Amino acid sequence: MRLTGSRALVTGATSGIGRAIAEAFGREGVHVLVSGRDPARAAEVVAGITAAGGTASPVIADLGAPDGVAALLEEAKAHGSIDVLVNNAGVYPMGGTAQTDEETFEATMSLNVRAPFFLTAALAPLMAARGHGRVINVSSIAAHLGTPTMALYGASKAALELLTKAWAAEFGPTGVNVNAIAPGPTRTPGTAPLGAGLDEFTSTFPAGRPAAPEEIAEAAVYLAGPGATFVHGATIVVDGGRMAV
Ligand SMILES: NC(=O)c1ccc[n+]([C@@H]2O[C@H](COP(=O)([O-])OP(=O)(O)OC[C@H]3O[C@@H](n4cnc5c(N)ncnc54)[C@H](OP(=O)(O)O)[C@@H]3O)[C@@H](O)[C@H]2O)c1
Repeated sequence: MRLTGSRALVTGATSGIGRAIAEAFGREGVHVLVSGRDPARAAEVVAGITAAGGTASPVIADLGAPDGVAALLEEAKAHGSIDVLVNNAGVYPMGGTAQTDEETFEATMSLNVRAPFFLTAALAPLMAARGHGRVINVSSIAAHLGTPTMALYGASKAALELLTKAWAAEFGPTGVNVNAIAPGPTRTPGTAPLGAGLDEFTSTFPAGRPAAPEEIAEAAVYLAGPGATFVHGATIVVDGGRMAV
């Protein structure tokens, strides 16, 4: 699929990895729908993409709210058909299982699993009807590791990776490629509170450091582009080598 002239909806595009994906898509000539809750941050990302010669529009909705997916789809409708959906918005609460309350459980599953599920349910059939499309789910290496403080988060991303395979089976035959990216620790506004802890944590990885969001965005550009036509149901691990050693 050619990127130039296509349209992408990127959730969580007002910050971090989603923002880097939106900006990279903008440079490739994709019209980007920049999704988040914060209109000021969305406007800033849109302005940056426009200043770099691309085109983008803000679409504001709280995907954790019960009607959030419907609200986002309603807003996005005004911009025409979506060729690429990036399910990136996510939260990563950390803590022991016994210390995790039901509110945190619901909020995590709502944003990390429910929103991608119903966005894909709405948009993949429309892509299939046009005979082409891409769905890219942003998972995490936490989906592959048993980490004592990440049971809930890891489970939410493991669910997203299983959905990636199931959707590849369901929508692949109609021309829609569904894949995932599993980033390792990445420097973003979301991980800023970890400070130097992130450097320490990643110092033993082959790369020896956390990722920059732009390094994760490269995988999204590949999965959305013409080089990935034969890639279905895959998870590209972009983790500085953590899972390999
Ligand atoms: N950073 C890492 O080390 C890392 C590693 C592996 C995987 N990941 C995954 O990568 C994705 C992005 O992570 P990040 O570190 O870039 O995150 P981040 O900097 O915290 O940004 C999160 C994004 O999600 C949006 N968002 C949060 N709650 C939302 C809601 N209720 N409704 C709609 N949008 C919402 C935020 O926008 P608003 O605030 O404008 O709503 C923001 O754009 C997540 O799925 C995360 O699990 C991150």
